[in-house]
Amino acid sequence: MIIAPKIRGFICTTAHPEGCAANVQSQIDYVKSKGPLEDSPKKVLVIGASTGYGLASRIVPAFGGGASTIGVFFEKPGTERKTGSAGWYNSVAFENAAKEAGLYARSFNGDAFSDEMKEQVIEAIKADLGEIDCIVYSLASPRRTDPKTGETYRSVLKPIGAPYSQKNLNTDTGEVDSVTIEPAEDEEITNTVKVMGGEDWELWIDALKEAGVLADGFTTVAYSYIGPELTFPIYTNGTIGKAKEHLEDSASRMNESFGDGTAYVSVNKALVTQASSAIPVVPLYISLLYKVMKEADLHEGCIEQIERLFADHLASGSAPTLDDRNRIRIDDWEMRDDVQAAVAEAWEKVDTENLSELSDFSGYKSEFLKLFGFGLEGVDYEAETNPERPLPSE
Ligand code: NAI
Repeated sequence: MIIAPKIRGFICTTAHPEGCAANVQSQIDYVKSKGPLEDSPKKVLVIGASTGYGLASRIVPAFGGGASTIGVFFEKPGTERKTGSAGWYNSVAFENAAKEAGLYARSFNGDAFSDEMKEQVIEAIKADLGEIDCIVYSLASPRRTDPKTGETYRSVLKPIGAPYSQKNLNTDTGEVDSVTIEPAEDEEITNTVKVMGGEDWELWIDALKEAGVLADGFTTVAYSYIGPELTFPIYTNGTIGKAKEHLEDSASRMNESFGDGTAYVSVNKALVTQASSAIPVVPLYISLLYKVMKEADLHEGCIEQIERLFADHLASGSAPTLDDRNRIRIDDWEMRDDVQAAVAEAWEKVDTENLSELSDFSGYKSEFLKLFGFGLEGVDYEAETNPERPLPSE
């Protein structure tokens, strides 16, 4: 099959196996170029390990610290006639590279919110690794079925209390128009917290603890975002922000109960991922931010962000540096006053006509395609390729 991108709104419904492999390889190469981590965890579980921040969180300890990794994700394998999802091909590529490097890697494809998945992973830890010393929680999902009640909750990306109107970029057409989003109902707020808050993170840690597979002094980290004031109504002060508040409360709750072990929330930079491209207003902000940060030589992608997270905080040999709310801040460069002032100035001026001059929309689009394995150097996109790729560990 010859595989080309098929974009439907903010999703691409095809993915290229060789392109995804090239993407994973370039992330591995980056990590190797940074040299070994000082004090890397050695047995790492990544929940949400197939794309975006979670994939980078699997690559960094594996290739920077020689860690054994277990990855959990929800992806679609390819068949003879239909391409799989990018996260599937990324995971196949990761496992192949890990195997070649002599690193243990095992993956579980299914619903991380379920009790069954937790049980399967615990069995694998018991059988293969004995214990885990670092758990990265990097899920981004539109829905969650509560394993106790069987009820399914859907998350929404909405403001709270009042409608929010802001400039918006139609990433299909390149038009800058405006969008008004009506505020969430109370039930939508509760549901979003159920899906994207810390409840499932706590359930994972409780289950691992109960099974006796957490190493002494283990660490666990989940990811959050803050961003600029202009996106506060849709992010930080919106439904997703409430969920992130809950995530931080989960970290405090776990820290009070752990004894030996620490939970962290790391606030990361806004980046093009499958999850962020679905948030209104954010793609325009990211396009302007990329331009400013690239010009200032401060730009980072997921792999650079997570390499810094491990090198400076989680695997540095000393305790992470925390802000006044106990969070790790790798969004520090994004939030620099000069960066934010330049983005705010561009935000005021940006319209459809000057978009390509004021923003890095072309960079946004090429990063978006790269998420699905398109536009990578050295890949022959005209060549026939087999979409059916098994996971080596299955
Ligand atoms: P992503 O969409 O690239 O990755 C989501 C991951 O979750 C994938 O591995 C997917 O397979 C997995 N997943 C989704 N539902 C699942 C389920 N039911 N069972 C098992 N796996 C499931 O997302 P991204 O952007 O990397 O987000 C990860 C975390 O980072 C989220 O908490 C997000 O809020 C946070 N974050 C993202 C930022 C961004 O700009 N992209 C910025 C700061 C934080």
